[in-house]
Amino acid sequence: MNSNKGIRNLFIYGGLFFFAVMAVLTYDTMQQLPHRAPEITDEVNAGKMVWHKYDCIGCHTILGNGSYFAPDLTKTAQRKPHEYLKNFLINPKIANPKATMPRLGITEEEAGKLVAFLDWISKVDTNGWPPKPILAAPAMVSTGELSAGQKIYQSLNCSECHTLNGIGGTMGPDLTHVGSRRDRVWLKGHFKDPQKYVPDSVMPLVIASDADIEQLTDYMLTLK
Ligand code: HEC
Ligand code: HEC
Repeated sequence: MNSNKGIRNLFIYGGLFFFAVMAVLTYDTMQQLPHRAPEITDEVNAGKMVWHKYDCIGCHTILGNGSYFAPDLTKTAQRKPHEYLKNFLINPKIANPKATMPRLGITEEEAGKLVAFLDWISKVDTNGWPPKPILAAPAMVSTGELSAGQKIYQSLNCSECHTLNGIGGTMGPDLTHVGSRRDRVWLKGHFKDPQKYVPDSVMPLVIASDADIEQLTDYMLTLK
């Protein structure tokens, strides 16, 4: 009888205690929210409309939402010059010859608005999120020195589309065991001309020197 009462009290007062803690934390968060983002201007709003018009989220994530085909853009405007971003949006390959992002037909005016939008997003206080570009390469899994092939894999951003040991995009196949599926001839040939090996492949051809392709292939063959 007595112990039943004890349990009931524990339940009631324990419940009240944690409810109070929750209420304080919620109040604290609500107080901070208005200071977490800069003011939204007309230009930023217009940029958001352009963002929707071209369905950027079909390939990119922003604030954690979207697709994993292309890099997260939450903090891009803080890492890259705005003039570069504007030119990149108008014509990716001219701004960066290695770009794989398609030219979407974005006008100069639209690009300016998009950069204003990306700039606003990049200033939203996300409490340090994302901690690093989401599609970080295999450096994070391997301990110690990276092999030459791993460095090339990293510099060519293969992880935008491929997963290795659980990290990367999902547009292309998981490469964790690719070395047990493909041989040297196939891999090298495929890097230089993906469509020749896989009809209608959307993998971009790998733009790198023969020596780099050789090392990238060596690396792939270790993945078993
Ligand atoms: C079909 C997929 C696709 C769509 C749609 C797309 N992107 Fe991209 N985007 C990419 C890929 C892939 C990259 C990786 C860099 C590259 O091009 O190699 C990228 C890179 C970027 C970059 C980074 C450039 C750099 O050098 O860091 C920005 C900024 C960007 N995209 C903005 C946008 C915006 C804004 C839209 C919508 C108007 C958009 N993207 C639509 C695929 C896409
Ligand atoms: C824009 C996305 C994209 C990028 C970037 C990309 N790939 Fe791919 N990759 C694909 C797709 C899609 C396939 C499946 C079609 C094919 O096999 O061609 C593929 C297939 C492959 C395969 C064959 C896998 C198998 O089991 O058949 C290998 C190996 C590969 N990619 C390696 C790489 C490497 C290394 C890089 C960086 C230099 C890279 N990819 C960059 C999209 C991409």
